[in-house]
Amino acid sequence: MSLEKQNAARTAVDQIEDGMLVGLGTGSTAAFAISYLGEKVRSGLTISAIPTSEASKKQAQSEGIPLIDFETSPSIDLCIDGADEIDSELNMIKGGGGALLREKIVASSAKRYLIIIDSSKQVETLGTFPLPVEVIPFGWQVVSRKLKEMNASPELRKSGPQPFVTDEGNYILDCRFNSILEVEQLETELNRIPGVVENGLFVAMCDQMIMGKGDQVILKERR
Ligand code: 5RP
Repeated sequence: MSLEKQNAARTAVDQIEDGMLVGLGTGSTAAFAISYLGEKVRSGLTISAIPTSEASKKQAQSEGIPLIDFETSPSIDLCIDGADEIDSELNMIKGGGGALLREKIVASSAKRYLIIIDSSKQVETLGTFPLPVEVIPFGWQVVSRKLKEMNASPELRKSGPQPFVTDEGNYILDCRFNSILEVEQLETELNRIPGVVENGLFVAMCDQMIMGKGDQVILKERR
């Protein structure tokens, strides 16, 4: 799986051109991309980047990748990120690494959004991977009850004995749904619950999927 991730990451980074503002994703596959991008920057590629998490920011800084923020430029040329599940329409579940909120903001500002995955991430129907829902800490129990009424089985994500806290200071409820058929509807419904900040359904956002499969790389554009 690691080779598949590396091949997908390298193929995506090869699409980065001089002068671009690049969105840097989060997770083990995105980490390969940041590392390859670092190599290219040290060899003379001139880009700037906006990371989607504190972890990716730290890695990018250690690679010598110049970072800016949205105050300098609100629009990203190319964003590269991983996914936890992706279906044939290129809709996704993200947030396994807890960075879904910043990831969705960065992706929504990108002219082109590339998703890099290994072959285990491709699914027929989303929902085997528990859907992360980011909530503010106050009243998370209320949100959890409402999610149960929507036939989900939410579980508060933990980091040891304590709740896991996102880069934005929120909690995550990992929600098991049997399978998610109405992705767009569910994404909207979840975000209407008071206390929900964002959820990990990324619908009609991915422009190109880059999947490592064995020693091949498979590309798929969103229709
Ligand atoms: C982090 C994410 C990641 O993109 C997702 O969890 C995939 O991670 P990995 O590349 O390690 O499999 O959404 O919030």
